[in-house]
Amino acid sequence: MAYEIGAESRKWFDRALQAIPGGVNSPARSFRAVGGDPAIVMARGFGPFFEDVDGRQYIDYLAAFGPLVLGHAHSQVTQAIFDHVTKGTLWGTPATKEIELAETLVQSIAGLEQVRFTSTGTEAVMSAIRLARAFTGRQVVIKFEGAYHGHSDGMLVKAGSGASTVGTQDSLGVPYGVVKDVISLPYNDADALEETLAHMGDQVACVLAEPIVGNMGIVPPREGYLKKMQEFTHQAGALLIFDEVITAYRFHYGSASAWLGVIPDLYALGKIIGGGLPAGAYGGRYDVMQYVSPLGGVFQAGTLAGNPLSSVAGLATLDVLRTEQPYARMADLAQILAENILSIAREEGHLITINRVGSAFTVFFHGGEVYDYTSAQGSDAVKFARFHRLMLEQGIYLAPSRFEAWFVSAAHTTAEIDKTLEACRASFKRL
Ligand SMILES: Cc1ncc(COP(=O)(O)O)c(C=O)c1O
Repeated sequence: MAYEIGAESRKWFDRALQAIPGGVNSPARSFRAVGGDPAIVMARGFGPFFEDVDGRQYIDYLAAFGPLVLGHAHSQVTQAIFDHVTKGTLWGTPATKEIELAETLVQSIAGLEQVRFTSTGTEAVMSAIRLARAFTGRQVVIKFEGAYHGHSDGMLVKAGSGASTVGTQDSLGVPYGVVKDVISLPYNDADALEETLAHMGDQVACVLAEPIVGNMGIVPPREGYLKKMQEFTHQAGALLIFDEVITAYRFHYGSASAWLGVIPDLYALGKIIGGGLPAGAYGGRYDVMQYVSPLGGVFQAGTLAGNPLSSVAGLATLDVLRTEQPYARMADLAQILAENILSIAREEGHLITINRVGSAFTVFFHGGEVYDYTSAQGSDAVKFARFHRLMLEQGIYLAPSRFEAWFVSAAHTTAEIDKTLEACRASFKRL
């Protein structure tokens, strides 16, 4: 293909390859699935744009895999970090900002009666599962194929996102002893869940799901599915955990659960709540949270958990979201993008399917409905790789995986949307 990664990116990435396995600190960032190394090395981000080390600019739909709902370097978020950084970056003691952020989450997320911070979404999910196991006195976790819940041992069974993209969904190094207690079911299949719980519900500690899946591409729940999931889970005496690491504050100011009308027993949170700095959290029912150490016997800790800089960045981000309510505008822009991409693809003779919820959507390179991992996997990997390259060539940065979302942020405007649609037309023409 004609596109050449810039000389500076190539130089930096060669250095990365020497010092870092595969040159990336998360496999989801690798370009291997879209035509190989090297990946582009970025120098800065501003608003809806990236600039790489060669000075080339891109419109960013990656949003750092979700956290950057306000775009890059939002003035209010940056100012909050500047204002706080001179007071020290970490204290290892209770601090005002983590308490304020905890209060903000509790006030805005339905069913979140108490919350405990972690540094990543991985830890948040892992800790919520440990808590559910302790609370119920049971071992088995039910999750769904193609949903990514971080990289803790038990979650790397038929996982989505980077794990499915690089083809390591059953990671080496995961002990059988952990995996044997994790069951993966097809998403959006209420019967499969009902049957499994009818058969072995008394062993199940929790059912863990993304209420709107983000990691096999965007896959919304079918009408009534989450309600049934909750009903079957509770009938079995298990806890319902919603992993809202991507979805909380993405679609409205609060959890997607509240938006969809099904409140879980426990949440896992991350990404947006840290405003672009490291943060995760888990929480939910007060009686369940009483099991967490030092109150109860479930041990979970973190040197960096609730750190002041992540807390101020999260608070500033949530403050902007609450006061400016950019959700309808973001969703409108995403709708314009998605509808036009669909008609451009048709005009140019390509079959695609687009799943969109609010400001997030995925273009699947096949014509059928996508409602679970099997249907998502039908997306043509070769076509996507070529499309990704062609878009990059025209200054549009998409996640380098057919299983990720395009995120429209509050920083995008119609100018970027128009430019993106022009690039789409040229890409579909040459695909
Ligand atoms: C739904 C979901 N859960 C958990 C995680 C893990 O979060 P982190 O990468 O912060 O560990 C991710 C990351 O992409 C995610 O999308």
